[in-house]
Amino acid sequence: MWRPLSRVFASVETERNLKAAAVLRGLCSAASASACSGFSMEPKLYRPSPKVRGMTSLDKEAFTQTITVPALRVPNGVLHSVVKSLKKAAIQRPGVPRVVQDKEESCDFRLVLLDPHRISSPSSFSEAESEALRSFGVIQELQQYELRLTYHNLKSEEVLEAVLPQGQDVPSGFSRVGHIAHMNLREHQLPYKNLIGQVIMDKNPGVTCVVNKTNMIDSTYRNFKMEMLAGEENMVAKVKENGVTYEFDFSCVYWNPRLSTEHQRVVQLVERGDTVFDVFAGVGPFAVPAARSGANVLANDLNPESHRWLQHNCKLNKVEKKVRTFNLDGRAFIQGPVKQELPALLKGKNNVHIVMNLPALALEFLDAFRGLLQQEPSCDENLPIVHCYGFSKEDNPETDVVERASGRLGFPLKDRCSVHFVRNVAPNKDMMCVSFTLPKEVLFSGDHEQTELLSEEPAPKRQKCEEANEST
Ligand SMILES: C[S@@+](CC[C@H](N)C(=O)[O-])C[C@H]1O[C@@H](n2cnc3c(N)ncnc32)[C@H](O)[C@@H]1O
Repeated sequence: MWRPLSRVFASVETERNLKAAAVLRGLCSAASASACSGFSMEPKLYRPSPKVRGMTSLDKEAFTQTITVPALRVPNGVLHSVVKSLKKAAIQRPGVPRVVQDKEESCDFRLVLLDPHRISSPSSFSEAESEALRSFGVIQELQQYELRLTYHNLKSEEVLEAVLPQGQDVPSGFSRVGHIAHMNLREHQLPYKNLIGQVIMDKNPGVTCVVNKTNMIDSTYRNFKMEMLAGEENMVAKVKENGVTYEFDFSCVYWNPRLSTEHQRVVQLVERGDTVFDVFAGVGPFAVPAARSGANVLANDLNPESHRWLQHNCKLNKVEKKVRTFNLDGRAFIQGPVKQELPALLKGKNNVHIVMNLPALALEFLDAFRGLLQQEPSCDENLPIVHCYGFSKEDNPETDVVERASGRLGFPLKDRCSVHFVRNVAPNKDMMCVSFTLPKEVLFSGDHEQTELLSEEPAPKRQKCEEANEST
């Protein structure tokens, strides 16, 4: 049964509970009289004091406050079962215990703290919860408990909502790369950047470094310019993706944790004995797992730092004998190592995959395959399968990437390819993967010299990427 507040106040004598009663009266005085007939709570009870608004340097003490929460006195003998039955009604706060000592009363009882947003009176318990309480012989009478909440009991969004100007967005999230959290702060959040960094670090175990990526992505190597917000400046990250460990300096190579499913999808197409040419390999998220699956891999990246970490990751994962690495422009890689290896591979039985993950530009590299080989083999060819990535802002991104790929190849791919939606990278911008068997009409076309004439756009030579910060 719910005991009216006046009776609760009259029946408790301890200083602690009297204080609790005062807090509750304070809460009630701000509310309407009718609201006080139950356990009235402000809707946002955990909101820190307004004095923290506008804080730019984190003062954790300023977030300390005492609030009153409902509690249920429960005999020790049934405590475990009651807590289990009240899972949804019990308080759930980082660092706040659900069960506390009922110091002033018999030590045969404990207090189970309840979520004040969920339980305002005994009638707030669900039918099942009430039934469970009855069966355990627990009196459904709410007590008030004074709870000291500190900075450590608040969630990061609660801290940031209280600090940043009212009505403006708080940072909604971050990407995690090993111990590094990287954020994309908006203009109005910049005055609070160091506080934001500190809060993200405090609230996310394992994060010891928080960086903000400034707007531009480096045009050639697809790595971000970054600014330290909080923590130690150690950019060498260690991450695990699909069971494979990678290490790299995040400040000078490309790494995107959102591509793990795509890496896995493509690697699953590769079988033992296959050959994989990875034209834009980065630090190895296609190359290393493909080699671990038993493929022979030739992996290339133009960025000397990516190339260095690619080699490192091959050693780290003990596949250095299965992977040959190159530090070339993608076009030179296709017209060099790929061209050299292909004739023998075409005669073989194992599949050959060519992976081209540089979505801003890769489609434009496809003309490098035109007339790549001179002599058409007499027997049935084992033609390579190309997986080429592209961004699209068109209403029909599938058609768009197929048309662009066809234009670059000088050969219609429609009905001869499959298109996979990888992810949405920005509003109205999708990352797609078009996969197709490289047509022999392209590979042996003999029009290598005409490449520039046939394609609608000029062949890219380390072009600037048109878009910033969207390839994450
Ligand atoms: C989008 S990242 C993809 C890396 C990796 N394949 C992955 O999935 O995470 C593209 C990579 O291409 C490299 N790159 C950029 N331009 C290049 C070029 N012209 N030739 C070869 N590699 C290039 C960049 O250094 C970067 O590592």
